[in-house]
Amino acid sequence: MHAQADQTRYARLAKISQAINSNLDLNAVLDSVAAAISEEIVLCDSVGIYLPQPDGTFRGYIGKPNNINGVTLDQLIVDPKVDSLAADIIRTRKSIYIPDTSLDRRPDPRPIEMFKIHSLLGLPISYGEELFGLVFLFNYGMSMNLSESAIQTVEAYVNMAGVAIHNMHQFNAIQSLLREKQLLLDVTRELSLCSTTEKILDTCFRYVGQVLNNKNIGVHLCDSIGSTFRPARLSNHSDWTEEEWRKTHKHIKLNYDKDLLFQEVIQTKKYVLIPDIDADPRPNHEACHQFGIKGVFMLPLVATAEVLGTIAVVSLGEVRTYSEVDMQLAQSIIDVTAAALSNAIRMEQLELIINDRTEELRENHRILELILNSAGEGIYGLNLDGRITFCNPAAARMLGLTVNELIGQKHEHILQPPDMQSGASAASIFDVFDGDSVIFMQEDLFYTADGLMFPVEYVLTPIVEDNKIRGGVVTFRDISERKSTEEIIRKTDKLSVIGELAAGVAHEIRNPLTTLRGFIQLLHTSPHTKRENLDIMLSELDRINFIVSELLFIAKPQCITFHQKDLTLILENVIQLLHAQANMNNVEIQMEMTGEIPHITCAESQLKQAFINIVKNAIESMEDGGQLFIQVNVKDELVVIRFKDSGCGVAKDRIPKLGEPFYTTKEKGIGLGLMVTFQIIKHHHGRIHIESAEGAGTTVQIELPIVLPEDYVEHLPYTYSTL
Ligand SMILES: Nc1ncnc2c1ncn2[C@@H]1O[C@H](COP(=O)(O)OP(=O)(O)OP(=O)(O)O)[C@@H](O)[C@H]1O
Ligand SMILES: [Mg+2]
Repeated sequence: MHAQADQTRYARLAKISQAINSNLDLNAVLDSVAAAISEEIVLCDSVGIYLPQPDGTFRGYIGKPNNINGVTLDQLIVDPKVDSLAADIIRTRKSIYIPDTSLDRRPDPRPIEMFKIHSLLGLPISYGEELFGLVFLFNYGMSMNLSESAIQTVEAYVNMAGVAIHNMHQFNAIQSLLREKQLLLDVTRELSLCSTTEKILDTCFRYVGQVLNNKNIGVHLCDSIGSTFRPARLSNHSDWTEEEWRKTHKHIKLNYDKDLLFQEVIQTKKYVLIPDIDADPRPNHEACHQFGIKGVFMLPLVATAEVLGTIAVVSLGEVRTYSEVDMQLAQSIIDVTAAALSNAIRMEQLELIINDRTEELRENHRILELILNSAGEGIYGLNLDGRITFCNPAAARMLGLTVNELIGQKHEHILQPPDMQSGASAASIFDVFDGDSVIFMQEDLFYTADGLMFPVEYVLTPIVEDNKIRGGVVTFRDISERKSTEEIIRKTDKLSVIGELAAGVAHEIRNPLTTLRGFIQLLHTSPHTKRENLDIMLSELDRINFIVSELLFIAKPQCITFHQKDLTLILENVIQLLHAQANMNNVEIQMEMTGEIPHITCAESQLKQAFINIVKNAIESMEDGGQLFIQVNVKDELVVIRFKDSGCGVAKDRIPKLGEPFYTTKEKGIGLGLMVTFQIIKHHHGRIHIESAEGAGTTVQIELPIVLPEDYVEHLPYTYSTL
């Protein structure tokens, strides 16, 4: 009898095992467990398997029979808070048998009453620490009379259910893990193909929407550190259009810093689920009502420990919850999104910066090119090998080449005539640089590609980087024109002075000649002329001789030599030369010396010319007559000569123009007098200073060193142009 009972038990266990192994349907397994129990315990009127609910209670799931007195099993709920028996089973994870419920107060009295339960066996469905459910066996009215071994048999069946559920959970967990993994892989792959933040967000919305089965998803982003959040994008499938959404946000003006929900998500970097906003103080209720939001699930977008933004999944009009697994999966998708998004944002920002910089560089380059191209001066760059690295069109034109031909040429081809080119490196030109000084050549010769030379003035500026010379830039100017102008000026000046002087000189000569003529006529009529008359004639002849030789002295081109000369004498000669002109203009010239005036080192003819120009200007400024004071005195190592006229003077704004070539206010003036004077004084290491006011006369003050440096004469350039 026992053996047979054992046989059937084994058969039942085998059946349950088979149900467990062959199919993973929880229903089928639990059904076979319930069947096995009810077959085993014949006296039992009801077997019920109860599974846990989210609220902590256990609900009837499968049992025999399924309907007890019109109450279906799924209507039966065991609440461990009320039912101490259930609570004990859960706590101890052990089965408890109550042979007589009237003697035990633990079971919930309501079902005991309702079903007249007399005896009751409760078992936990568990595996290890995990509790999967409860099983209750009872009968109505009388005891089940369960033996120890019967209870153990039932426990064996129930344990199998525990194993089965555990396996199934394991399997489901693995399955869903695999599914999640696959999903995350898909998201990651898809995100990696997205090139813009919009595409990344749309992909995220699609996957999160799928997992949570909700298409109302929007994102609020904080673009850069320190900046504030803004509504950035809404899912295309949302019940709202993005435009409406933005408009409403504009109207609401969320204060992210004060919004409790946003702040909690941002601060904790964890998602927050609010199934019903009306039952929660955190969300901005007014904003939620504007959007028609009933529930909100907000998740943080975190990349490298920074919150880029938040994603809000909202339910419109209904309370909604999501399973923990789904919420976590949604967060995982968003985590992957955040990484991609942060990269994309950084890339987009970099791209913006690069575009800006490129535009800036392009603009700078354009300006530089414009400057180079429009410069009238030739500009070219040299590397340390003495090769030309860049040039402007003016340089190429002056050197008789195109820009492209000039680049790469050797510098020495420009500096030396073709037959003298040694082939030696021109790099040595940079050796002369001391620090970052600049070389200025006032006059040199450059050679065109055809070997024609032309005079230039150039500046060589080193290009210094990290305290090292990397090359140089040459800026040059063709001075042929300037040189010929200078030549013209020099000649013109001589001619003009002589021309101007001629009238005066003629007058000057005519006077003594008239005197002579008178005396000779006298001689003619009276042969006994007096000796004093002859003396007068001689002195008149001397005067003519002086004037003519003086005129020749100034007119004749002569080589400039510096000698010790009496300055007083020079000034007296000048006054004498211009005497007639002064007379004609009714100008009185007075000279005043203070102290002993030493001889000075000078080029006499030049100095005379300079003084003539000044005195002439003074006379010309006093058309209606006046006075010219010439004061000479010595101060330290200098002789100071002041020409003070009472003429028309010079307007204040015109004073800087004095000495500019061809600046004149006179009808017959050329405008070179002062320029030549300035050059001559400079040539003598002297200084000139003009003080004038309109209508108040002019004072020209000249300071000349008494002694010039020893070697000065030797190194003296011989034309004005080199001054
Ligand atoms: N002493 C002066 N008083 C008033 N104006 C003067 C005086 N000296 C020079 N100027 C002004 O400066 C201008 C330039 O003088 P500058 O001697 O260079 O040329 P210019 O006298 O006009 O012609 P030129 O080449 O024949 O000398 C004059 O035209 C005149 O307007
Ligand atoms: Mg003049």
